[in-house]
Amino acid sequence: MSGPSTYVPTSALGRWFESRLPVMGLVHSSFVAYPTPRNLNYWWTFGAILSFMLGAQIVTGIVLAMHYTPHVDYAFNSVEHIMRDVNWGWFLRYAHANGASMFFVAVYIHMLRGLYYGSYKAPREVLWILGVIIYLLMMATGFMGYVLPWGQMSFWGAKVITNLFSAIPLVGGAITTWLWGGFAVDNPTLNRFFSLHYLLPFMIAGVVVLHIWALHVVGQNNPDGIDVKNVEKDTLAFTPYATIKDSFAVSVFLIVFAWFIFYTPNYLGEPDNYIMANPLVTPPHIVPEWYYLPFYAILRAIPNKLLGVCALFGAIIVLAFLPWLDTSRVRSGKYRPVFKVFFWAFVLCCLGLGYLGAQPPEGGFTIAAQILAVYYFAFFLIILPVLGIVETAKTPPASIADAVLAKSAAGANH
Ligand code: HEM
Repeated sequence: MSGPSTYVPTSALGRWFESRLPVMGLVHSSFVAYPTPRNLNYWWTFGAILSFMLGAQIVTGIVLAMHYTPHVDYAFNSVEHIMRDVNWGWFLRYAHANGASMFFVAVYIHMLRGLYYGSYKAPREVLWILGVIIYLLMMATGFMGYVLPWGQMSFWGAKVITNLFSAIPLVGGAITTWLWGGFAVDNPTLNRFFSLHYLLPFMIAGVVVLHIWALHVVGQNNPDGIDVKNVEKDTLAFTPYATIKDSFAVSVFLIVFAWFIFYTPNYLGEPDNYIMANPLVTPPHIVPEWYYLPFYAILRAIPNKLLGVCALFGAIIVLAFLPWLDTSRVRSGKYRPVFKVFFWAFVLCCLGLGYLGAQPPEGGFTIAAQILAVYYFAFFLIILPVLGIVETAKTPPASIADAVLAKSAAGANH
């Protein structure tokens, strides 16, 4: 899509450099001249929001690491030291902890946008799968980061999740010992989690580069799910149009983020994590961070541990097969009346699972989680493949320009 660069440096130094390393040309063709479909809505700004959040997490994380001590005897107190003694330490920590939550809010919106508008369909399968890899890396990073303050929930959360691997037949025990670096969640575990928590965001950044590269090879999808036919009529230059729109969206997102940091910084946290880890005292309810709750509910809905673990991982892995499970030839959900109903039911299903993940695994809660877990898998494995064949979709507009003109004509009539 970006094609060879037409960028010509204005200065002699620029020309000298560009003929040796055409990096300005790359930036120009990717973020200035890059043709963006002119019908994109605000759901398309979440990629920029995510890029911003990744940068914010890396910057706050690096400074936090300067003051943090990855040792079971000091970790908890070093976090309190950051909160009380380090200049702006409270801000760094609250920005990083709430930043993780905001990052997941943005990624869930970004993924649901892709799901609704069929952005995973050909030719964007690789782009989507790179997204699923990013999501897996984000989950691993968030999990290991939560262990670092070495509070009660850090410790017990780590214990519950690492113990899941012991369900694997034959090698489960050995894998768990290998993950722990010993025979319990202890100092070696904290050390390796710190090391990996520092490393993974940079791996995420690397996969994001591939993600955006893949995006620029095939071009962006759009709310009408139709291909660009005429670059002149159907697209606008990325700069200034998308740049300004993305900057505005990032600013609004920052206001919400700031509200959490400054007004309710512990709202999304667990009070138990302000108690230092104690291997001898199990907290009454062990709950993971909110963004894992739907998967936690799926895990606990199944009485058998091994099957529960398979369902937990299966719930994420199934996303990678989505491009081939959805058989519909119409890309955007906007033109699929029946799909829309199942899509919103899926969103409610995920919210319901999230709620149930935080409840004790008993009685009605377990039954409700089982029903929703069945819907979760049925949506991908049965509904999407069948619906694509049986549903009569509406006909999308002939071109992006037509879609935009129809919308502005409708607006003028009101
Ligand atoms: C650190 C996390 C991520 C970053 C920084 C990121 C970045 C971006 C950016 C900048 C775009 C273009 C703008 C936009 O469409 O919003 C994009 C598009 C896209 N992303 Fe991501 N992304 C991330 C995670 C994910 C995940 C987890 C998935 C799916 C599992 C995903 C799937 C997609 C798809 C399918 C598109 C194409 C959308 C379209 O053109 O309709 N991304 N991403």
